[in-house]
Amino acid sequence: MSTFSQKASSSASSQSTSEKRFSIEHLLSPEFSTNSDDGSDVIQGLTQPDKSLPSRYLYDDKGSQLFEQICELPEYYPTRTEAEILRQYADEVAQLTGACELVELGSGSSTKTRLLLDAYQRQGYPLHYSPIDVSAGILEDSARQLLADYPSLQIQGIVGTYEQALPTLAPAPLPTRMVSFLGSTLGNFNQRQCDAFFSLITTSLEAGDYFLLGIDLQKQKEVLEAAYNDSQGVTAAFNLNLLNHLNWRFGGNFDPVLWEHWTFYNQSQAQIETYLKCKRWHSVQLEGLDLTVEFERGEAIQTEISRKFDLQQMQSYLEAQGLPPARIWTDSKQWFGLLLCQVQPASSQL
Ligand code: AVI
Repeated sequence: MSTFSQKASSSASSQSTSEKRFSIEHLLSPEFSTNSDDGSDVIQGLTQPDKSLPSRYLYDDKGSQLFEQICELPEYYPTRTEAEILRQYADEVAQLTGACELVELGSGSSTKTRLLLDAYQRQGYPLHYSPIDVSAGILEDSARQLLADYPSLQIQGIVGTYEQALPTLAPAPLPTRMVSFLGSTLGNFNQRQCDAFFSLITTSLEAGDYFLLGIDLQKQKEVLEAAYNDSQGVTAAFNLNLLNHLNWRFGGNFDPVLWEHWTFYNQSQAQIETYLKCKRWHSVQLEGLDLTVEFERGEAIQTEISRKFDLQQMQSYLEAQGLPPARIWTDSKQWFGLLLCQVQPASSQL
């Protein structure tokens, strides 16, 4: 998962390292940024009647560490279930796509990518990997480990948002390209963001290219709620840390002790909704944003949604986007889905 790094890179140049197998391009300079960091999204979220904060603020360095811990929790099934599917079917993915460049969105630690790289290696295909992440630090660290473990691997990393990176992809160095979007990160997008994301995907890829999507599926409320309210309190710490991040980034005085983690499965919307609930009336200043906000006891700020999908509906949606799934795999409990889609020529789209 991407980190909103406190050591954000501001280099706009493309630079090659001494290693010929690794290049990295930085797109996160202010002049290229489409994703403004001026806090206007915070002001907007905190000044409406139903308060909310963009979930991207969950991922500062500490938040990303906590998210890695969440992925290991006994209650948090998505990571290991998706890995189990990949372990079982990565060879089929490689056979279906043939030799292709692997592009990964929100590559983070690239852990699951290794399962794909292993499969392409077993097929004897050349290995080309293009991780895209907003954190230069995580991208470089994981690239170095991959280069050490896969002696023929070529890596072209891009530090930037999806919106910045996808339109700048150079022509694929292999016959085709597969963009992967794993971990059900799609579930953190509302429908409008989801539509915008898929239009970016279809305009950035060419007919015949592949898109590999991991999605969390609808299941019993108890299983879902336990995954987002774990017994060790790691998810609560992850949610509360958002306040520390805002304090650091915008000179705020949020006191996390005055807030509690609150999460539930909204069955009618098929989504986990996560909030920070205020324990008593108080006001908070964010000096960097010239903002003072009063909070009532019991008032809640929405910090995340995590949508849970229906496989059939997702299949129809992807078909309508011009990305029909060529193959769909699930685990034995049908808790998680992995969909290999192929971009259709524009003329054959609905
Ligand atoms: C990154 N994303 C897919 C996670 C999810 O399950 O929605 C984020 C998360 N939030 C709490 N736990 C995990």
